[in-house]
Amino acid sequence: MNPTQAFLAQLSLRYPIIQAPMAGVSTPRLAAEVSNAGALGSLGLGASNAAQARKMLDEARGLTRGPINANVFCHVPPRRDPAREAAWLQHLAPLFAQANITPPSGLEEIYKSFNEDEDMFRMLLEFRPEVVSFHFGLPSSERIAAFHDAGVYTMATATSPLEARAIENAGIKAIVAQGFEAGGHRGVFDQEAPDEQLSTAVLVRLLAKQTRLPIIAAGGVMDGLAIRAMLDLGAAAAQLGTAFILCPESSATPAHRANMKSERAGVTRMTAVISGREARGIVNRLIEHGEAPGSPRPAAYPNAYDAAKQLNAAAAKAGNHEFAAQWAGQGAPLAREMSAAEMVRTLAEEMGDK
Ligand SMILES: Cc1cc2nc3c(=O)[nH]c(=O)nc-3n(C[C@H](O)[C@H](O)[C@H](O)COP(=O)(O)O)c2cc1C
Repeated sequence: MNPTQAFLAQLSLRYPIIQAPMAGVSTPRLAAEVSNAGALGSLGLGASNAAQARKMLDEARGLTRGPINANVFCHVPPRRDPAREAAWLQHLAPLFAQANITPPSGLEEIYKSFNEDEDMFRMLLEFRPEVVSFHFGLPSSERIAAFHDAGVYTMATATSPLEARAIENAGIKAIVAQGFEAGGHRGVFDQEAPDEQLSTAVLVRLLAKQTRLPIIAAGGVMDGLAIRAMLDLGAAAAQLGTAFILCPESSATPAHRANMKSERAGVTRMTAVISGREARGIVNRLIEHGEAPGSPRPAAYPNAYDAAKQLNAAAAKAGNHEFAAQWAGQGAPLAREMSAAEMVRTLAEEMGDK
């Protein structure tokens, strides 16, 4: 069995295609439609508490008997730094003024790390999705063992050979190799460590030499030809995020969709300005302002995201979407608008698998 055949058999999939978990954009319907079409549907639960996540999982389970991937964030919680937060809020003050609201006096840790969320862990262990995947780091060895004992398959994102080694040493079953092209948050473990910003193709080749674990190529894969190319390079499957944003089943906002369909889709940037962590999105006024020469360092993740979300909520009410997080990868101009089922069918056909 080649790596792809083994991966398909392991998860009872028809196609080596994973719809990426996308917190805020993936929905139970999107995941279910993808799974019903023979690929792996994912739910991004990183921005949810246990009760909200359970509701999404229940909804997805009600719509499909196929496999579901539940994705959580394992970031190191931020060290509070009031001076850094105040400087950041001060820097954003002109944008808050534009949105006609007073800046908050402090920033909240709006997302709890899975590593500190006992309720989420217990809920997932009870629900037992077919797959649980980790972004921004790894959970404890006890939690990984508990998932495996419960029959749950595990995956984690690596952006470098070093992170891939840590994932393998932790006993995780598959590695999501995320290249610099990718839309959304870069899954780096340690934001202070040097980052080679490896492309998806180079990372997949490096990992193919280093490990026998299944490698899932993520970043810039927009059609069946690119999936085929990644399999040729040694990946067992590909994970696509940006390609699914325009599906009617996603919860992408109308403004996000409009930009994805405009020339602006071709201008994305990796930036920590929106959330406090590096992520790739369509360039807008907030990114430009936050990256202007002389700007202070953004507040830590996810505290900077608190500021951006408050700013966007107020501005969006007045029809201004220039402060929104519109995550998208370098391949965004190649995104197509079609139903999730049609997308999976199209990708499979293009790969040469009919
Ligand atoms: C809108 C959006 C949201 C994302 N949210 C998550 C997430 O919650 N968890 C995660 O592991 N990856 C997330 N990602 C990254 C994807 O898992 C994947 O690495 C990426 O989409 C691959 O690159 P592509 O967008 O070029 O296909 C997100 C990507 C996008 C575009």
